[in-house]
Amino acid sequence: MKKIEAFIRPEKLEDIKDIMEEQKLNGLSISQVMGCGNQKGWTEYVRGAEVDYNFLTKIKLEMVVADDQVETVISRITQKAYTGEYGDGKIFISDIQDAVRIRTGERGEDAIK
Ligand SMILES: Nc1ncnc2c1ncn2[C@@H]1O[C@H](COP(=O)(O)OP(=O)(O)OP(=O)(O)O)[C@@H](O)[C@H]1O
Ligand SMILES: [Mg+2]
Repeated sequence: MKKIEAFIRPEKLEDIKDIMEEQKLNGLSISQVMGCGNQKGWTEYVRGAEVDYNFLTKIKLEMVVADDQVETVISRITQKAYTGEYGDGKIFISDIQDAVRIRTGERGEDAIK
């Protein structure tokens, strides 16, 4: 199992949610985060004073998926979140050791089916 963590533009959330159904994913967490990437925000002058705006609102998606779903999910997120402009987002992938469905005690991939 892998965890896919994707930081995307808020306006892309609806498109991304389609992937859930399409790829038969059974769980997803979504949060609103503030963040910055390479551009580190921007600077504006307000009444002559320099003001730094460092953080933009992004959506963070977290999904734990089976190994055989990982590459498809990554490529679908990439296609749907893409505009070609700075700030399109980033995807991080990490190993998940185990999972537990609390109600049944199922472990591993059974717990995310
Ligand atoms: N190294 C990182 N660690 C954690 N979160 C990150 C990291 N890089 C980016 N993010 C998150 O992803 C969001 C989008 O990043 P962004 O797309 O601007 O990345 P970038 O590397 O600057 O790419 P681009 O040049 O296309 O803008 C950030 O606002 C932040 O929430
Ligand atoms: Mg950026």
